[in-house]
Amino acid sequence: MSAIDEGDDVVLYLDNRRTYMVRVEAGKQFHTHKGFVELGDLIGKPFGSPVVSSLGASFYALRPLIRDRIIKTERRTQVLYPKDIGYLLQQLDISSGSRVVEAGTGSGALTMALADSVRPEGRIYSYEINPAFQAVARGNIERASLMAYVELKEGDVTEGIEEKNVDAVVLDLATPWIVVPHASDALAGGGIFASFSPTIEQVMKTVAALREHPFIEVDTVELILRHITVAENRTRPQTQMLGHSGYITTSRKILK
Ligand SMILES: C[S@@+](CC[C@H](N)C(=O)[O-])C[C@H]1O[C@@H](n2cnc3c(N)ncnc32)[C@H](O)[C@@H]1O
Repeated sequence: MSAIDEGDDVVLYLDNRRTYMVRVEAGKQFHTHKGFVELGDLIGKPFGSPVVSSLGASFYALRPLIRDRIIKTERRTQVLYPKDIGYLLQQLDISSGSRVVEAGTGSGALTMALADSVRPEGRIYSYEINPAFQAVARGNIERASLMAYVELKEGDVTEGIEEKNVDAVVLDLATPWIVVPHASDALAGGGIFASFSPTIEQVMKTVAALREHPFIEVDTVELILRHITVAENRTRPQTQMLGHSGYITTSRKILK
């Protein structure tokens, strides 16, 4: 494992509920209610090293994973979470070299996971209608050093998709059913369509549109994730949970 450099992002881990993503700078302090950490002290140490705050609390300096970046992302929009992104990546079946169209970019959380999956040979073409959201997404993707694999496109994806013969189209926006005909035009034969929607009404319209176009294997799922408290005589699902994020509809394009 490489050593921490000035300018690197690190995740400072205190416990499972308290983690902070910070940029390492000599002379800069990161303040928490457990005292401050001298960020310059991390320079030259291997990732995973302990660092003690001014009040004696032990933190660990971890290399940020893509899932850390997704959870800590600067955001102006709702973002997709690892629970749904993991399933999407499996369904989309993308790997290095894949060409993927995404809309909308939002805060770029899904974009980062997609880019990490297709690098170094592939490319993500990500459409976003709102330039302010796109600017935030660009910052997040640049911070993750993934911009080389992403083309951010400003525009309304309901008006069309410029790319052709792509491996996958993935949508997280309010009106995916309007984009289905454009996805059909853009996808290569056998290419994968996926859409994330919070409501059943959106799912019904999207599935109806897929059935009017050359798509097969249409399937909709909802993923429910429960964290488990593990402690002597108290091991059981946690009382509080995220009850609903959205439904994921997937399908495969065929040639007629
Ligand atoms: C829920 S957010 C996407 C979040 C993103 N998946 C993430 O993980 O950060 C939906 C985004 O779609 C964008 N959007 C809505 N309609 C659009 C359209 N017709 N064309 C392009 N982007 C659109 C919105 O501006 C918003 O940023």
